[in-house]
Amino acid sequence: MKIVVIGTGYVGLVSGTCLSGFGYDVTCVDRDASKIERLNRGECPIYEPQLEPMIRAHSASGHLHFTTDPAGVVPWADAVVLAVGTPVTKDTGEIDLSQIFASVEEIAPLLSDGVVVITKSTVMVGTNARIRNRIAQLRPNLRFSVVSNPEFLREGSAVQDFLKADRIVIGAHDDHGRAVTEQLYRPLQMQDTIVKVTSLEDAEISKYACNAFLAAKVTFINEIADLCERTGGNVMEVADIMGMDPRIGDLFLRAGPGFGGSCFPKDTRALATFGDAVGAPQGLVKATIATNEARKRSMAQRVLKAIGQPTGKQVALFGVAFKPETDDLRESPALTVVEHLLEAGVGIRGFDPQAADAAGALFPQTHWFDDPYDAASGADAVVIMTEWNVLRALDLMKLKSAMRTPVMIDLRNIHRRKEPARYGFTYISVGRDVAEPTHAEQSAGLRRKA
Ligand code: UDX
Repeated sequence: MKIVVIGTGYVGLVSGTCLSGFGYDVTCVDRDASKIERLNRGECPIYEPQLEPMIRAHSASGHLHFTTDPAGVVPWADAVVLAVGTPVTKDTGEIDLSQIFASVEEIAPLLSDGVVVITKSTVMVGTNARIRNRIAQLRPNLRFSVVSNPEFLREGSAVQDFLKADRIVIGAHDDHGRAVTEQLYRPLQMQDTIVKVTSLEDAEISKYACNAFLAAKVTFINEIADLCERTGGNVMEVADIMGMDPRIGDLFLRAGPGFGGSCFPKDTRALATFGDAVGAPQGLVKATIATNEARKRSMAQRVLKAIGQPTGKQVALFGVAFKPETDDLRESPALTVVEHLLEAGVGIRGFDPQAADAAGALFPQTHWFDDPYDAASGADAVVIMTEWNVLRALDLMKLKSAMRTPVMIDLRNIHRRKEPARYGFTYISVGRDVAEPTHAEQSAGLRRKA
């Protein structure tokens, strides 16, 4: 099978590379000539575990190619995978489908009879029907199918998520599209991955429903963490007990500084806006967005409160990527914290195994170090923003002696509750200790003391 993937972003690159590993002839197309040049040299433009060696291996075996020129490959394709970006427009919250439809205009004249156009980009319900209509308009005599095949790849484990997917969703309007897409994923079906064949619309909606549900789950546990802080509970115990109920499940119940990344924030916004537009308001999704935004700000306040008078203070920021094993900063809660600290006049010394360069470029007034102890040198507080494994095994004695004031704000709960205090740290985490009540709360008798 010959496959062309349009777009070498996160989804396109992981999907194209993994499909070429099944033995298909895959060409990834991107307008960005410098990116294609890098890929042709075997360099991966993003940090994603396992991806770069796979790109090299499959390019060397002749199964994976990169080009800027769709005209040279699309006419021979059995399947064209659309994997271009679908950002949301900042002010309206609406999904921006311009890249999708620009790709459709570009490929339509090049498609051959029997081709299947597979949409992997996250698109709002009805978009695949529009893609189908537009191709039919441009090529009235072409026999073709359109398939909605949403991805569920998590950054940091995308290759594994692709190769060991828990489900493949195939939204199809005809048998040919369904059969070709099933054939494409045959190697995964052979290892018992569930293939769910459904309508275009169900496939489109399910992608948004999954991401919005998971974002709401994270937001829920974050609010329960607040409740624990007010009452003496421990959110990790509560999450543990909730997770024992199979109706709830134990994943995505880690309280933290709020969700970020390229999907949850964008997809929740698009779903909320779309729900309003079609007369099906998504109240829970709207609340999730607002609560998460407020959480990011309140985490910044938590840090500022912990360091006291901000002028002249230095904070060591441990982790800036929105999650570990990625260099992606998009909508990372750490960015909100950095912005607030800088605004208050606090200096930032950062450490992140992959995202330091990008963070330094975004905030030129911050300093980044290859070693966490160097970053902590002379700092008034350490703030753990991303749960990188390397931060779990820190030598707390060494860390403390590097710092000016031993304050640790662990927004990912990676340390045992009592451990840092044993080394002399003032330790603040999430949902595990009663927060000091403010004066007003104390006089109103609102909160129990620790
Ligand atoms: C997500 C979806 O999981 C994936 O299926 C989809 O296709 C793309 O979007 P990703 O954005 O890579 O993947 O990250 P994910 O692991 O889902 O985490 C999203 C955010 O939630 C991160 O900011 C993470 O730190 C946060 N999170 C996740 C928590 O705060 N607590 C949790 O328990 C889980």
